Amino acid sequence: MAELVGCFAASHGPLIARDWDKLPGARRAEFAAAFGELGRRFTLARPDILVEIAPDHWTNFFLDNLPAICIGVGEEHEGPREPFLRNFPHRSIPGDPGFARHLVETALAEDFEPSISHRLSLDHGFCIPLLRMGLERLPRIVPITVNDLEPPMMSIRRCLAWGRLLAQAIAAYPGGERIAVLATGGLSHSIGEPTMGAIDEPFDHECIRLFRAGDDAALAGYLEGALLRTGNGAHEVRNWVIAHAAAGSRGFDLIEYRPVPEVYVGCAYASWQPAARAA
Ligand SMILES: [Fe+2]
Repeated sequence: MAELVGCFAASHGPLIARDWDKLPGARRAEFAAAFGELGRRFTLARPDILVEIAPDHWTNFFLDNLPAICIGVGEEHEGPREPFLRNFPHRSIPGDPGFARHLVETALAEDFEPSISHRLSLDHGFCIPLLRMGLERLPRIVPITVNDLEPPMMSIRRCLAWGRLLAQAIAAYPGGERIAVLATGGLSHSIGEPTMGAIDEPFDHECIRLFRAGDDAALAGYLEGALLRTGNGAHEVRNWVIAHAAAGSRGFDLIEYRPVPEVYVGCAYASWQPAARAA
């Protein structure tokens, strides 16, 4: 059977790529260290398949067609279209239709109804962490887009359920593949609204505390209220919730948290690995 070899999470603010050369050298060094440590842990996990969970920033979908959650089942996915990611080294990213279809079929059997896409374009939400983690080669990627942008959105309770379903599907997948999960987005940020640029540090710290504590009821209760009061970008924490639940809610190890006003985001990086927690 397949094996879940780690769950990872990272922020993905577009300015981490678009404004890279304009950032102070110390900021670039901080990003390089945090993403580099995430990449080191990811590489040690040696995944064959990566289930990557990110929002779709109006790249594939818009208001005329906006799935709550969509699984990419294609043989390959398109690289990022954003001009500031033209140097991303992968214009075509291999998928894993075998596991993707298994995940969809598991979901439907358990009364979940994801959308599917045979060709997704992976935007900065997917690609900035992959770029900054410095991976020598990419695993086959099964992308999952989550609507974190436009209400109404999935409840936190449902995100937890999706995470548990993902772990169930991995455990039941025939074969010996090593499968990792990477959630991207958050933590707090505010884009295109009157609080543009605001970083809600108390929100970020409480999220981190609750992810470590592993109390799903407390996590859901806090987020359902707090997400109404903080910046719109914080809704991307839903992706972290899915990865957290896929890890059995056993607590992310925080690599780093740092509010970064130059990129408008409370930037956080975390991981969970079975061996690391058992050691
Ligand atoms: Fe985003």
